[in-house]
Amino acid sequence: MRGKDNRIHELNTLKTIAEKLNEATDVGEMLSDVLRELLHVTELPTGWIFLIDEKGQYELAADYALPAGLTWEQKKPMCQGGCWCLDRYQDGRLKKAVNIITCKRIEEAIEQKWGDTMEITHHATVPLRAGNEKFGVLNVASPHKKKFTDEELALLESVAFQIGTAMKRIQLVEKERSHALTEERNRLAQDLHDSVNQLLFSIMLTARGTKEMTEQEDVKEMLTYMQELSQEALTEMKGLIWQLRPQGLENGITAALFNYANVLGLKMACNIEGVCTLPNHIEEELWRIGQEALNNCKKHAETNEISFELSKTESTVMMAIKDNGRGFQYDESHSIPSLGLKGMRERVIRLKGNFSLQSTLGVGTKIEIIIPLK
Ligand SMILES: Nc1ncnc2c1ncn2[C@@H]1O[C@H](COP(=O)(O)OP(=O)(O)OP(=O)(O)O)[C@@H](O)[C@H]1O
Ligand SMILES: [Mg+2]
Repeated sequence: MRGKDNRIHELNTLKTIAEKLNEATDVGEMLSDVLRELLHVTELPTGWIFLIDEKGQYELAADYALPAGLTWEQKKPMCQGGCWCLDRYQDGRLKKAVNIITCKRIEEAIEQKWGDTMEITHHATVPLRAGNEKFGVLNVASPHKKKFTDEELALLESVAFQIGTAMKRIQLVEKERSHALTEERNRLAQDLHDSVNQLLFSIMLTARGTKEMTEQEDVKEMLTYMQELSQEALTEMKGLIWQLRPQGLENGITAALFNYANVLGLKMACNIEGVCTLPNHIEEELWRIGQEALNNCKKHAETNEISFELSKTESTVMMAIKDNGRGFQYDESHSIPSLGLKGMRERVIRLKGNFSLQSTLGVGTKIEIIIPLK
């Protein structure tokens, strides 16, 4: 009878957790919810989940009721240093749920007197996987519990497998969403090109044609003005369309910016050092930053000549764009009210890089960006 009760209890656990995992669209929230649910039904008091990336960097993604010794100084013991379960995960030995002999983090917490450890000494560790992909580990522990039974480990393993599958699903949804966004931007760019761009072009041609049909100087002047305005609007439109289309990058950042400078009517001298390929996300951000820098040269610098520098070392990539234009007064300590420079700086901060701008009135402006690659 006892066995049957256990079995029903287990099935209920799996069902509740499957429901939580099905609803989830956010990894962090999902892991916290499932961990709480799992601990509740298994009657284990505490647990935590580490997510680990391809480079072996780990992050505490969820935790529940950790003892004070592990939450010391904003969970410092959980966010730094190695431990045996992570070692096993890294060297490929952690294929299924196992009893870890002792917990290195707990041992350290006791040794360093970081706080109460609820008399926990051991924990079970389960890898989070989907097919051949690994995402991290799920750890659970209980005071005085030194060994988890085979049934307990099997249950943990099936929950971990469900978590891995849900993470894979969320990853795929995110990928699809970003793909849909790209498609939408391309469609918008194409629509703008086919509608507004063509209309502006017609206005320009009509103004030019009508000018030939009149002898009146003041009308001629107005038509010339219309022609110039539509030409300007066309150039702005081209710039806009370019910004919407992320494809510019297929031949790399330099070719993309060189072509963009051409579109804006700027002459760009390039100086490239040691660049082969850059990680996609960095290249995409540099592309956006470069576009805004070129827009600013076009709009404000009052010169058509600019220079572009890109150099890559093992650990950093540096991009600089410089004009010998009119320059402006720039004070880094003041907040920047306009969106262009602010956006550039924010993109660089997101990549943990360094943004600097030097501008001298009558001499020109230079922006320089250094992004760490590791
Ligand atoms: N290369 C440059 N040469 C001269 N002045 C510049 C240059 N870059 C920026 N500026 C000055 O700095 C100001 C802020 O630039 P920022 O790109 O933030 O805004 P913006 O170009 O005016 O508007 P937007 O939000 O459309 O980019 C500009 O208005 C301009 O006065
Ligand atoms: Mg700008």
